[in-house]
Amino acid sequence: MRLQNPLSLLLASANLCVAAPTFYWPPWMTGIVSTSWLAQHSWDPFILVIDTRPAAEYAAGHIPKAVNIPWAVPLSAWISYGPDDLLLQLPQDDYLFGNLSAAGVSKLRRIIISSSKATPPYPQAEAARIAMTMQLAGFPLVHVLNGGITKWQAEGRVVTTVVPSITPSGITGSLDRSDIVDREYVKAAINNKIILDARDPSVYNGSVVEQWASKPGHIPSAKSLPTASLLDLQGNYKDKAALADVVESVIGTDVDKDTEIIVYCGVGGYAGAVYWVLNTVLGFCNVKFYDGSSQDWVKVYDMEL
Ligand SMILES: *[C@@H]1O[C@H](CO)[C@@H](O)[C@H](O)[C@H]1NC(C)=O
Ligand SMILES: *[C@@H]1O[C@H](CO)[C@@H](O)[C@H](O)[C@H]1NC(C)=O
Repeated sequence: MRLQNPLSLLLASANLCVAAPTFYWPPWMTGIVSTSWLAQHSWDPFILVIDTRPAAEYAAGHIPKAVNIPWAVPLSAWISYGPDDLLLQLPQDDYLFGNLSAAGVSKLRRIIISSSKATPPYPQAEAARIAMTMQLAGFPLVHVLNGGITKWQAEGRVVTTVVPSITPSGITGSLDRSDIVDREYVKAAINNKIILDARDPSVYNGSVVEQWASKPGHIPSAKSLPTASLLDLQGNYKDKAALADVVESVIGTDVDKDTEIIVYCGVGGYAGAVYWVLNTVLGFCNVKFYDGSSQDWVKVYDMEL
């Protein structure tokens, strides 16, 4: 349903699942765009780049006409904290839309999310998590800038310290949470739905235990699809064919695009990347997101080794 192509936009109101086409969509229809594509479209007044780095980094130099809405843990426009100490929860509607309005963001624009790539792979997952949030907020065209400002600068492209003048957009709204699932939903899915764990293999297999989830291992019956496996050695998202190979190596080649797939990770960051790739690059249209993830799961249930 959330595929970003004209057909799915047309059918969205009918809530139909649109299978991915067998040919490649042009870049402007997929969820990840390249720095060269963005540079070639610098003329396009409908494109709005949202730079998600801290304000000081944005001030020191950013993509021309980009606005700044920083990602910060534990609280920012993009994420909230809790209840129950849970990190990286989806934001409150009023804070999210308040910040979008203040930055002049409206639904008429094609949104490009640009993070840094300082310590891969996390910022690329962060960008995907933000893009997912924008999509849940009802923005029809949202993309992740592959490699973010780091790649943009490494390629010697134009940066500026000029801050665009902003008129608040006045946008309000609420997140569509129908793809967001909770602990009991995931419990009921064990052994009968595809559950994907986006954490590193060493966390999945229990040899490493992260601070926010005290029990080693993974949710029973979950398969391992590490976010790092979606990225190349430079920390950029792989191309569509390579991403399809990675996903097929985990779930098989015979999975219909409308099959339900639940993704989770440690606290809900890495899983954003898997969600985004499955949903907007590969065309799986029934992907659910367990926002509480391992941190929430181990409060009540056990992991499997
Ligand atoms: C932006 O988000 C922050 C953190 O959630 C919040 O404190 C602030 O009030 C928001 N700004 C607006 C204008 O809503
Ligand atoms: C767990 O995964 C790590 C990383 O892939 C690997 O080095 C280690 O041998 C694995 N441990 C077990 C017990 O399988």
